[in-house]
Amino acid sequence: MNDALNITNLTAGYLGRPVIFDLCFTVPQGVICGVIGPNGSGKSTLLKSIMGLIHPMQGTIQVLGHSIDQVRSKIAYVPQRESVDWNFPVSVYDVALMGRYAPDNIFKRLKNSDKEATLKALEKVHLLEYKDKPIGQLSGGQQQRVFIARALAREAELYIMDEPFAGVDSVTESAILKLLKEMKQEKKTVVIVHHDLQTAFDYFDYFVMINRKLIFSGQKKEALQPQYLFETYGGGLPALDRIRTAGNAREEIAKS
Ligand SMILES: Nc1ncnc2c1ncn2[C@@H]1O[C@H](COP(=O)(O)OP(=O)(O)OP(=O)(O)O)[C@@H](O)[C@H]1O
Ligand SMILES: [Mg+2]
Repeated sequence: MNDALNITNLTAGYLGRPVIFDLCFTVPQGVICGVIGPNGSGKSTLLKSIMGLIHPMQGTIQVLGHSIDQVRSKIAYVPQRESVDWNFPVSVYDVALMGRYAPDNIFKRLKNSDKEATLKALEKVHLLEYKDKPIGQLSGGQQQRVFIARALAREAELYIMDEPFAGVDSVTESAILKLLKEMKQEKKTVVIVHHDLQTAFDYFDYFVMINRKLIFSGQKKEALQPQYLFETYGGGLPALDRIRTAGNAREEIAKS
């Protein structure tokens, strides 16, 4: 089986200036993968490169064994909330429905199955009753959920999400976590940018840690090692001790 992502020597950035350097890693299919790193470490840049929204300066990116353009209909993308123009006059339903359009066929005729998948996705994120509202009138957490619904409507193989947990309340957080569990059961791959270390080790089973360059990629068990957390976040991270303690506690529980 092809890897979900196979990235070699990826250097990418803006206006000729690299932001991420020489990244090499793979993400196998069927994992819930956290991409973690501090602010400005290049997490969104990495995701935008994977989605083909910016072009690599160097290196190659294979998605499900192909170039992104060949498999785009199997990939769903949830952008970071700050990067979206929320004043665009479209309804919640219309945004979710966009998940059903292939990028090379935006004028396709809608089938009943498209409408059904869209409504089902909105129901899963508890937004059915808001379906006719303009997205600009929703709260931040609700807007986040609209984009998750758009991704779900796509019924993709690989879900790429940029900070879906940022600024959401605990109800939305639980709803997203429930979706992740379902995706895992269905053997889908999910790649999620996340910057809260406290929760990262509960949510994900595979990790890509970056700080402009790759620090670590692999299974959770090895990712917990303090040296990687140190290299990713630098020495002055107050959460580090708590994580270490949490990690030790978990290991103790696992051993007992
Ligand atoms: N459109 C852009 N044009 C120029 N520079 C950019 C652009 N977007 C991001 N950058 C720069 O690239 C670097 C990495 O940004 P990126 O958004 O990838 O970081 P991030 O890890 O996603 O951060 P955050 O946790 O804040 O979302 C930053 O220094 C940022 O200023
Ligand atoms: Mg970002």
